[in-house]
Formats: sequence, C-alpha cells, structure tokens
Amino acid sequence: MRDLSNDLLEWYDVHAREMPWRVSPADRKAGIWPDPYTVWMSEIMLQQTTVSAVTSYFQKFITRWPTIRVFAAANDSEVMGAWAGLGYYARARNMLKCARIVVKNHSGKFPDNYTSLLKLPGIGPYTAAAIASIAFDMQETVVDGNVERVMARMHNEHTPLPIAKKILTTYANALTPRARPGDFAQAVMDLGATICTPKSPACGICPWRDKCQARERGTTSKLPKKMPKVTKPIRHGTVYVAKRRDGAVLLETRPDSGLLGGMLGWPGSEWVDMATHKRPTNPPLVTDWKKIPSEVRHTFTHFHLILDVMVADFDTEVHPKTGIFVPRSEFCPSNLPTVMRKVFDLTES
Ligand code: ADE
Repeated sequence: MRDLSNDLLEWYDVHAREMPWRVSPADRKAGIWPDPYTVWMSEIMLQQTTVSAVTSYFQKFITRWPTIRVFAAANDSEVMGAWAGLGYYARARNMLKCARIVVKNHSGKFPDNYTSLLKLPGIGPYTAAAIASIAFDMQETVVDGNVERVMARMHNEHTPLPIAKKILTTYANALTPRARPGDFAQAVMDLGATICTPKSPACGICPWRDKCQARERGTTSKLPKKMPKVTKPIRHGTVYVAKRRDGAVLLETRPDSGLLGGMLGWPGSEWVDMATHKRPTNPPLVTDWKKIPSEVRHTFTHFHLILDVMVADFDTEVHPKTGIFVPRSEFCPSNLPTVMRKVFDLTES
C-alpha cells in the first residue's frame, strides 16, 4: 500500500495541476500551507461543478471577499448575484450560514478536524474530508467521482454505483497515507481527471499501471459500473417579463427553500409535469401579455424544464401582485440564475 501511495505522490510532485486555490507540492514541502478559507470555498464550489467552471468564480469571490470575516459580513443578495451561473444555489446560501457560524462560534477559524467540520452548514463527508486533509493534513479520505473511478478500476470492482460507494471508500481509505494525506487526495483526483479518464484513459503513462486490476483483465472501459439512469421528466411553466419604458424590469426574489432558492427571477407559474397537471398560469398583473414564439429549455439535475415566455411593456406606473420593478441601472442579467438569464436573452433577441 505504501508503495502505491508513494508512486502516486511522486507522480503528483511532477504533474500536479495548477489551480488558483492550490499550494503546489514544492511549496507545501517548503512549509507553505493553504488558507482553510480558500480550501473551503474552492471545495464548496467544486461540489457538482468542474474545475474549469469554478476557476473564474473562485477568483472573483476571493478578490471581493478576501477573508472569512469580510465574507461573513457580505450582503446576501450580492453573494447570490456573484454565484449566479454556478448552479445548486443552496451551496451559496449555506456558505454564508457557515461563514457566519465560523466567525461567531469559532473566532473566524475553521475547525481542524473532520467531525467538527461535518457539523457546519453545507459541509458533508466529502468536503469535511477535503478540508481536513488539504488544509490541516489530517489523514482523512476524500471520495469524489474521480476517486471512485480510479478505485473501481484499480480493484476491478464491478458493483454498480451508488451501491459501490462504501467499498470504494474502503479502498481509498486503505491507500491514504499518514504523510501528505491532502496531497494524496488531490493526486488521486488529478489522476482521475487527467489519466484515468472516463473515456480513453491514458493507461500507458499511469503511475499505477502495473498494479491496476482492470488494466490486467481488460475491463477498464466498463468501469465504474453505474445503475441504469432514470430518464428525466419534462416540466412546463410560464414566466412573465414586464419591462417599463424607463428600462426597469419586474423581478422577484424566489423563496429561500426550493430550487433556485434566494435567487432573483421572473415572476411566473409553478413548474409542473404536463402528464398530471393542467398548464398553470400566474401572471403578476393583468395586462395584454404577448407570448414569444420560441421557448426556453433548461435541464436541472432531476428534470428538463420548458418555459413559455410572456412579455409586456408599460408606459405608465403599474402595481404588480408580486415582485418589484428594478431600475435598469441596478439590473445585471449576469446576476440571474442561468435559466432566468436565458429568458431575458430571449426577450432581448
Ligand atoms: N475536485 C474537487 N476538489 C479538488 C481538488 N482539490 N483538486 C482537484 N480536483 C478537485
């Protein structure tokens, strides 16, 4: 086991990917430690999102809120606006909750162990292990999709995911070294992202090529096995885009709980499954709404959404049932969640 870990760490010393939140293996050896705040922020952003999508958001957040104290004091809507486009908006709301608890109850310092980290909002087993190992060098095992793939192939494990998660975690745990567990965790993730890729893995240059059981048995392309995907249902809804002559647009903040919670959006109907429901409408005010001939399509984790877009222009003061008119100077389309931005783009095209 120690040989395997060492082989991988030696590979990582040369091939570690550069990332703005990372301390390189050489700097780490020279005694430089990453700031737990930046490790935490990057790991929350990386949950369900790729490194390339996260990079610019991470840089924007760290520039705007360079310390946890500054971040904890931030305005909620500013943070939600800056998060727009990254998706899974509960992560941003939990980040604010978490930062405020760390400032209030932990003197602005992240706890340095898995169990205490796990108690904080938005920090699950993956993130607690990542922060404990990367920021505090604790011997904790990090298991994400990359690690699952690498472990399934190394051990020729054919149990399908998610059932296999437990056994794959046991394999990763057995390999995690006492020295440099944070570098080891990041090394397995880099190996999965750059060599042990889902399609066409580069087995010939893999530091674990001689010990990989899937390679020996020729099963690499079949692993990891996954339970068959359930097809996503299609939901439908209607949104209403009201524009005033002075450029103000009618927006509402969505309720904190639920999809896109706490984000700005266009008023509209519920989103329903057409097989079981009648198409709902819920205009924010009574007027002569015009339907845009094309629709907006967007895919969430559990369903596809098709939105009808209704538009109306107003010359005079109107009083909607829901939402408020936001002046054009304060309206920033890029602060909308992606589906709502797609709606706006359609109304402008
Ligand atoms: N994915 C999530 N966290 C990561 C990290 N620290 N390094 C590489 N890939 C990651």
